[in-house]
Amino acid sequence: MPESLQARVDAIRWYHTIDLGSGVVTRGIDDSAFRLPRLDLPASLAGMSVLDIGAWDGFFSFEAERRGAARVVSADYYSWHGGGWGSKAGFELARRALGSRVEDIDIDVMDLSPERVGTFDVVFFFGVLYHVRHPLLALERVASVTRKLLIVETVVDMIGIGRPAVAFYPSRELNNDPTNWWAPNLPALHGMMRDVGFDEVRTVTEPPGLARRAARAVVHRMRGVNTMRGAFRQDRAVVHASRS
Ligand SMILES: C[S@@+](CC[C@H](N)C(=O)[O-])C[C@H]1O[C@@H](n2cnc3c(N)ncnc32)[C@H](O)[C@@H]1O
Repeated sequence: MPESLQARVDAIRWYHTIDLGSGVVTRGIDDSAFRLPRLDLPASLAGMSVLDIGAWDGFFSFEAERRGAARVVSADYYSWHGGGWGSKAGFELARRALGSRVEDIDIDVMDLSPERVGTFDVVFFFGVLYHVRHPLLALERVASVTRKLLIVETVVDMIGIGRPAVAFYPSRELNNDPTNWWAPNLPALHGMMRDVGFDEVRTVTEPPGLARRAARAVVHRMRGVNTMRGAFRQDRAVVHASRS
């Protein structure tokens, strides 16, 4: 008798929480559906091509397909091939279970180019910018494969400082994770996006205000993942960038 979908799902360590139908939901550490509205994705992606960089288990790739994209490509490398605790097994199982036609490519963001992967109407770059050692160069690569709209979701630091600035984490300063390197503040993020060729840059989700950041800083301190001061100045933001 074939192993049940539930048993195969339970054998995998998931990052994303994906509803696979028939009551089977992956037990990801990420509340993926909760994050979705913050990204302000186009309600319809009908006929468009979408590249999801750092796709991991593929929640946002499958969402793009659900919104009608004609072609979706999931790209990742680090968590698919043992750099951390993740693997590609979740993505592959979810794709089969959902009957999805999402394509995949194993590639580091630094190796993206129109020659290697082509160009895409819409590009997702969620939760990756702070993991790269050379963020402006990474954004150049990402911009080179973006035809219309680039959506970046990232940690921002030095919230409230008006001057463009980028925080450097030489060790585990961001969430106790040695794979985190840099996070810009919003003025720097906008400046970087313009520098790589986008003339329309819009923040669609601002980091939360003082009270919520303070509460979060206390929780982070108690869990030992960050200093109070560090957590208070950091949160997440989402920016849409396009060419006119
Ligand atoms: C925090 S997870 C975010 C996953 C997903 N994009 C999301 O927002 O839920 C970071 C992802 O970026 C990928 N990643 C990290 N460095 C990368 C790189 N240099 N090139 C491509 N992907 C990378 C990791 O493998 C992982 O899948």
